[in-house]
Amino acid sequence: MRKYRLEFYCKRALYVLACFIILIYNRVSWAESECDACHAGAKALKMGLEDVYAGIYSYRFRHNNVDRECRRCHVIEEFQIRPESELYFPGNTKEGIFFLTGLSLDKEYELELKLKRTGEGTLYRKVLKFKPSSIVVEKGDDAPPAVKTIRFLGIRKGVIPEGLLYFETDRPVVSVVEFWKDEHYRERVSNLKVFLKEHVVRLSGLKDARGYRYRIITMDVFGNRSVSEGVLFGRKRMIENPRTEVVQKSEGLKEPSVRLFRPSRSADLCLHIRAPEPVMVSVKMREIVEHTEHGYGLQSARYTNIYVCTECHSAGISHPVGVRSTRADVEIPREMPTIEGGVITCTTCHYPHGGNRPYFARFDFDRICNMCHKRLE
Ligand code: HEC
Ligand code: HEC
Ligand code: HEC
Ligand code: HEC
Ligand code: HEC
Repeated sequence: MRKYRLEFYCKRALYVLACFIILIYNRVSWAESECDACHAGAKALKMGLEDVYAGIYSYRFRHNNVDRECRRCHVIEEFQIRPESELYFPGNTKEGIFFLTGLSLDKEYELELKLKRTGEGTLYRKVLKFKPSSIVVEKGDDAPPAVKTIRFLGIRKGVIPEGLLYFETDRPVVSVVEFWKDEHYRERVSNLKVFLKEHVVRLSGLKDARGYRYRIITMDVFGNRSVSEGVLFGRKRMIENPRTEVVQKSEGLKEPSVRLFRPSRSADLCLHIRAPEPVMVSVKMREIVEHTEHGYGLQSARYTNIYVCTECHSAGISHPVGVRSTRADVEIPREMPTIEGGVITCTTCHYPHGGNRPYFARFDFDRICNMCHKRLE
């Protein structure tokens, strides 16, 4: 009996908890009417803004939950780290330069640098804040990069065997390695992402190095280039794994040298990292944006007028969007709003906040096709 009663109380407690959570959740979603602090009533008009809410509540056809979903359609809620702003060294290495592209001169950025040894956690973490316009410009020399110590490490067995070619350069470079036996068919392996001094190149499909020639093309951050050619050693050597340096574990990592500069003749920045031992390096970067009443900013027009709509509605059944007119018989009249100077969106035909016609139609749907398609009957 006791046992049953206990179960009964537990269940009850769970129900109460669930109700509580639902209550809190609703409160949170209600909190979103904070947009009405400026976009509603007399206050909006005083600020020179439209009274969006007056519109929403007066429409004959309301868009489901529109007064609660303001943020979802309009506001960037969190920092968005672009995928291309996460950078890595390709393996354990001592020195390298990342090219930081696509930055705006006058914006502010934050960069998080992490150094690790294989099999251990982060040993070193540094956060840098910078404005590209205040980074020193560096004038390089005109000397071509020198390639030294070229070694064929051997062939690694596997489903697809690969030859491992190692080379060092006198400064960090990006590289393209070509290899061939038959002059008409050259294989290429490129590393164009990170500038490195030590390079391990995987020559995929190589079963036997005998008779192979190679060509190494390098370029440093100042645009200086060099080309070296040679023949791979004939001796066929089989290895299980590429050489890895054994490092004494659990010892602290000495301070690496970290430096930002801008090569002359380039709009992009360089992040130069020199560590006291071979390490894994990763870099994350983001723009510093202040959190305001519009979150981290307003969403792009494409997002608000197309992408968010298709998160809830199927785009397949509707008219093509995200396109411009490429045909003489399709002309978009001025009174139909487009984005990016002529791109059709969902809101070219529908009001987003609701409307007085069915489907929140901007224009009578009976004649809307002919407003753009001149020869459609
Ligand atoms: C503190 C007052 C304030 C609050 C709160 C506020 N806004 Fe605004 N909003 C403004 C002002 C002022 C502008 C016009 C200037 C600008 O673009 O920053 C604006 C502009 C906008 C625009 C662009 C309008 C246009 O014509 O391009 C949108 C969309 C918008 N707000 C949506 C929102 C949403 C959604 C919320 C709630 C999450 C919100 N705002 C909260 C003051 C506010
Ligand atoms: C379903 C997505 C969606 C929701 C939800 C939504 N909006 Fe909009 N809103 C839009 C789109 C799309 C536009 C652009 C319309 C245009 O180009 O005419 C817009 C335009 C605006 C504008 C510019 C002025 C205007 O009326 O054209 C403001 C301000 C605005 N919205 C505020 C809000 C506020 C405040 C809320 C919440 C009460 C809200 N929006 C809810 C999609 C939405
Ligand atoms: C959060 C989800 C959500 C988003 C985002 C959203 N909608 Fe809706 N929309 C709904 C719901 C729910 C309905 C009501 C569905 C119904 O009644 O069949 C609706 C109704 C509509 C209708 C009327 C459909 C009818 O049968 O009367 C149109 C048109 C529409 N939405 C267009 C848009 C456009 C354009 C956007 C982007 C600006 C958008 N919606 C974004 C959820 C959403
Ligand atoms: C060229 C104008 C045009 C564009 C652009 C357009 N629509 Fe429509 N939409 C219409 C018309 C016309 C109807 C009415 C169709 C009918 O009578 O069945 C409609 C109906 C709808 C409906 C209600 C009917 C249904 O099938 O649920 C929704 C929801 C809708 N559109 C969403 C969207 C979304 C989301 C986009 C953008 C991806 C979009 N529309 C782009 C013209 C357009
Ligand atoms: C706002 C202007 C506009 C309206 C309104 C409009 N269209 Fe379109 N439509 C376009 C544009 C722009 C294209 C893309 C044309 C191109 O590829 O150059 C297009 C493409 C199409 C296509 C695809 C044609 C193809 O070859 O890919 C069809 C079908 C179509 N529209 C039918 C309709 C119908 C039916 C209506 C009425 C419900 C309508 N359109 C309303 C502008 C419009």
